[in-house]
Amino acid sequence: MDTKLKIYYSRKPGSEGMIDLHTHLLPDWDDGPESWDEVSRMVEVAAADGETAVCLTPHIFRFSRYQDNQQILEERFQQFYERFGADNRISFFRGAEVFIHPDMVQEIESRHLSVNQSEYVFVEFPSDQVPAGARELFYRLMLAGYTPIISHPERNEFFGRQPEILYDFINRGCLAQLTAGSLVGSFGREVQRRAELFLKHHLVQIMASDAHDYRKRPPVLSRGVEAAARLVGSELAEAMVRQVPEAILNNQIIPELERPTSPLRRGFFFRWFKKK
Ligand SMILES: [Fe+2]
Repeated sequence: MDTKLKIYYSRKPGSEGMIDLHTHLLPDWDDGPESWDEVSRMVEVAAADGETAVCLTPHIFRFSRYQDNQQILEERFQQFYERFGADNRISFFRGAEVFIHPDMVQEIESRHLSVNQSEYVFVEFPSDQVPAGARELFYRLMLAGYTPIISHPERNEFFGRQPEILYDFINRGCLAQLTAGSLVGSFGREVQRRAELFLKHHLVQIMASDAHDYRKRPPVLSRGVEAAARLVGSELAEAMVRQVPEAILNNQIIPELERPTSPLRRGFFFRWFKKK
C-alpha cells in the first residue's frame, strides 16, 4: 500500500460508528501528542467513545515544528501507519488542517493536504480575525476544485462578533466544522454560546473532536452529539458525525441538511450587505 498519499481509502467493513474528521494524532509534529504512548492512549479513548473512523489532520503553516518539512510529515504518517494501521476497531485517514496562507492553493495540491485526497480541505483562521483576503483565497481554492471546511468557527472572535460573515461563507459553498468540546463548555461560556448559535442556524455541518491529547482535549464526540441533539434533534446531530463526514471521506456531495439561516434579524443583515 502506498502510504505516502493515504492511510486508507475506505472504511473497514462493518464499521458503522462515529467518524472523527479532525484530530491531531501525530507526535512531535504540532501542538498535539508528545509521544507514541500518548497517541496509543488517544486511540483507546476514541475507540471507547464509539469512533470507527478517524482522520488525522496535522497543522500545516501553524504550530508545526520542523518548518512544515514534508519529508518529516511523511515519516510521521508512515510511523503511525506501522503502529495503528492494523487496528481492527478504527480506520484511519489522512488529511491536514491548513492555516490560511497566500500559497495555500498550490500547497494543498502539491502536498496532498485535502481529506483522504478528496476535494474537501480543512482551513484554519487566526483565532481573532478573518483575514481581508480570505474570500478571494477561498474563491481561488474553489476554482481549483476544492471545498473549504472552516475549522471551528465558534472559536474565532470575529465570527463571534459578526456571525453573518460565516453565514456568507456558507452560502458561497463552504462548510464549517464545530468542535464537540465547544458545545459542552470546554472552551468557556462564550465559545459555547457561539457554538449553540451556529448550530441552531445550521452554519456548521460537521462535528469533530479536534483532539490534541487524551485528557484535556481527547478524541471524544459522544458528549457533543448529545448536546447538539438537545438543540437541533438527534437526526441532525448524528448526521454531523456520520453521514456528512462519510460523504467527505468518499469525496461525495454531502447529504442535504437543514438550510443555513441568517444569525441576524433580516434588516440587520441587509444593512451590512449594502455596506459591502
Ligand atoms: Fe485542529
